[in-house]
Amino acid sequence: MPEIKFIKSPEVPLEMHKVRVVQKLTLLPLEERIKKNEESGNNAHLLKNEDVFIDMLTDSGVNAMSDRQLSAMMAADDAYAGSASYYKLEKIVCEIFGMKFFVPAHQGRACEHLLCETLVKPGQYVPMNHHFTTARAHVLKVGGLVEEFIHKEGFNAQSNRPFKGDVDIKKLRKFIEKEGREKIAFVRMEAGTNLIGGQPVSLESFRAVGELCREFKLKYVLDASLLADNIYFNKTREAECKDMSIKDIIRAISDQFDIIYFSARKITCARGGGMCYRNKKDYLKARDLIPLYEGFLTYGGMSIREIEAMAIGMEETLSFDMISQGPIFIAEMTRLLTEQGVPMVTPPGGLGVHIDCTKFLPHVPANQYPGGALHSALYLVAGIRGTERGTLSEDRDEDGNEVIAKMELLRLALPRRVFTLSQVHFASDRIMWLYENRDLIGGLEFVDEPKILRFFFGKLKPIGDWQDKLVKKFRKDFGDSL
Ligand SMILES: Cc1ncc(COP(=O)(O)O)c(C=O)c1O
Repeated sequence: MPEIKFIKSPEVPLEMHKVRVVQKLTLLPLEERIKKNEESGNNAHLLKNEDVFIDMLTDSGVNAMSDRQLSAMMAADDAYAGSASYYKLEKIVCEIFGMKFFVPAHQGRACEHLLCETLVKPGQYVPMNHHFTTARAHVLKVGGLVEEFIHKEGFNAQSNRPFKGDVDIKKLRKFIEKEGREKIAFVRMEAGTNLIGGQPVSLESFRAVGELCREFKLKYVLDASLLADNIYFNKTREAECKDMSIKDIIRAISDQFDIIYFSARKITCARGGGMCYRNKKDYLKARDLIPLYEGFLTYGGMSIREIEAMAIGMEETLSFDMISQGPIFIAEMTRLLTEQGVPMVTPPGGLGVHIDCTKFLPHVPANQYPGGALHSALYLVAGIRGTERGTLSEDRDEDGNEVIAKMELLRLALPRRVFTLSQVHFASDRIMWLYENRDLIGGLEFVDEPKILRFFFGKLKPIGDWQDKLVKKFRKDFGDSL
């Protein structure tokens, strides 16, 4: 955002775009929401989009595209092999990241699949700052092991540390020295660390881990899905980056890495994914699997139109207006809620606002999924959908025990350029009301629990009749309001 001063009104985040295409929204009556919530098994992923008023489930594949992206899609060069659109994307991605080779894959987890199948041997570790659900599932699927080295402040929901995604470098060094390089497949760093509240990684930490990897001759892999938000924070919170261009910050980060992969559903606002390699041997291993899993190399399981949109979207991440829109809205909503005492993850990160459910619902134990419970309460009172990021998002261990997450969060994603400030105010208002009535909210239990990534398809029910009591109180306070 450029420096634009307000003289009479309070300063609010100012959009540097205008909206010309709109989608109609409906807020179902409360009685309908009760029904839909029950049918979905209190699971946001099982709600139909038409039953949701404000969809804060994710930023993945639902960011607003620009007019440049949409028009480029019309001019896509459709071909099974050799599409010009593909070569355009390859060129832009390799230029921005300073890499030599590019492999397309249909989304972020498809990259993780290829990465793990080509680089991880059974019994090998993948150390990382913090896992993402699909990243860890792919490492485990090929017999690998995940170890996390995030700085201890990363799990402190309310912290002053500007880069909570940073690595505890001493701990990581000790681990590498103990295990030795043969036991380590690669080191993974996740920009904009998703599961701890979209928290960024400093250039300093990217670099320190890079130096360690070079010392021990380890491959260094960046998950750049949330890099756009991360760069905003590098630019605004890290002294070294203050006077650097966005382009130079990206290159200072990407120069550290051997492999960079991304979900283009996030970083380019399109729908796809891809990986860049510095080393030809590793690139060829992944390239040769593309026809098996993704389709031919020059479309990688994606529509060529999306490939055009990805190319433009990647260029657009070089604009400060573009990369700041998400974080400034998130900061504003976090401010509104924090002012009313709602416990939030702070400092605000990227991707969305994160409510600290351990503090919001201290009476709901982790194995009754406070984040999931708060989510169902929010859907009931506001028609808003979000995502639990806590114990519910973990799977049970091999013996069937709950794996208790280090944080219990409810994430409300703010897809880029999608919501208006009045929608942010509405969502905040209902959350404030829930906070005042938090004693009415109870826990959830599974009635149908898948073994892998259970949060996607699992069904739950409330423990006791707390949802009835909450609805009654809503009617009392809100009258006939939707
Ligand atoms: C950090 C990170 N990595 C990987 C992925 C997986 O990407 P996709 O949803 O495109 O498969 C995501 C998706 O949310 C993510 O946030």
